[in-house]
Amino acid sequence: MNQTLTDIDADLDADPTSEVAPHPRTRPALVAALSAPQGFGDQTLRSPRPDAIELLGGIPDPSVLPASELAEATTRVLSRPGSPALQYSRAEGLPQLREWIAAREGVAPERILITNGGFHGLSLAVQAVVERGDLVAVDNPVFPLFLRGLQLSAARTLPIPVGPQGLDVARLAEELRGGARPSALYTVPDFHNPAQSVLPEAERRELVRLAERYGFVVIADNPYRELRFSGEQVTTAPFYESDHVIEVGTFTKTLGPGLRLGWVVLPERFRDDVIALRSRADGHSSTLVQAIVAELVTGDPGLFDRVLNRARALYRDRATVLANALESAAPGAFDIEDPEGGLFLWPRLRDERIDPERLAEDASATGVEYQRGSFFPSGPGTDADRHLRLSYGDNDADRLREAAARLGRAIAAQPR
Ligand SMILES: Cc1ncc(COP(=O)(O)O)c(C=O)c1O
Repeated sequence: MNQTLTDIDADLDADPTSEVAPHPRTRPALVAALSAPQGFGDQTLRSPRPDAIELLGGIPDPSVLPASELAEATTRVLSRPGSPALQYSRAEGLPQLREWIAAREGVAPERILITNGGFHGLSLAVQAVVERGDLVAVDNPVFPLFLRGLQLSAARTLPIPVGPQGLDVARLAEELRGGARPSALYTVPDFHNPAQSVLPEAERRELVRLAERYGFVVIADNPYRELRFSGEQVTTAPFYESDHVIEVGTFTKTLGPGLRLGWVVLPERFRDDVIALRSRADGHSSTLVQAIVAELVTGDPGLFDRVLNRARALYRDRATVLANALESAAPGAFDIEDPEGGLFLWPRLRDERIDPERLAEDASATGVEYQRGSFFPSGPGTDADRHLRLSYGDNDADRLREAAARLGRAIAAQPR
């Protein structure tokens, strides 16, 4: 006779010697091992003034995101008979969207896999190429969220300096000749976050040559590339020609971070692995969001470029306003490289007597918040801590001028 659950409970209650060992509900080791990544410091704990101007994140301005165009595309997509956009779809993404991205990037559509944004693409790339405990070479200073993701692989990191010409590929070569054997290298080749530099073509080629020679995979994280507003685009061809590079793209900075939509350009040899990873996690990116974006960019073929041009013009103006306002509010206080794209200035404090940590606190007290260069984990050999990362993406010209004026007052008050 089958015992019911009630019978079993009754048996257990009747027998005081029977001990049920419950599952030892501890935090899984992977979760317990997570710690605040180096570099975040206590800055995130400070409470800003209610009237603070925040020059913090790489946030696109709402005025240049195509909200009404997305609304129209959504209506068209959902009016299709049978609403296919509400159904499951394939792990690698909708064919129309993959084809459009592939044509824009100049690669075969089979190499595109759609993701839930850039961070997701980075996480898939790491899972596909980094073994637990591996050495991973990283930008120095580095985008901290990459390190946060890397924690899950318990990887060790090898910081490689990033200067005004991007990643120091010669230094990487030295490390490799000295015996370092990373399984991957992470870099932001265009409008580096935070250092804003762009890796020249010759260095891209040399980086790929090193990857092929020493057997590591370059994870090229490229969220800002489309936001170039002056100068010449540097080719990505060396990356796409190599089967040692995974390029990570996203619509976050161009169409909006809330879409959570991006892609990876995969060498063929990683495709099946990444699809296999995907089918063990979220299955695929939202069919609806993919269909809406595919409709947006293919329904009117010139639209994406018009959206980009609107954004580039706005960010070019804002970058100029902020750079000029800083120079007049704090004459000679900073070395400022005029950016050719992206969403940030990365000015360097000239006067060595100014303590950047103290300045950040005083600036906060005068009502302006920004990321200190030391927020970006940096080993020895860089002067990142002498820099400020100032975002001009989502503040209009008046607020940028006011932010510069407040920063100027904080600088004037520094002990020297
Ligand atoms: C360098 C870098 N990589 C990746 C991302 C993440 O992009 P997404 O919002 O698409 O996940 C960002 C966003 O700020 C970034 O600056």
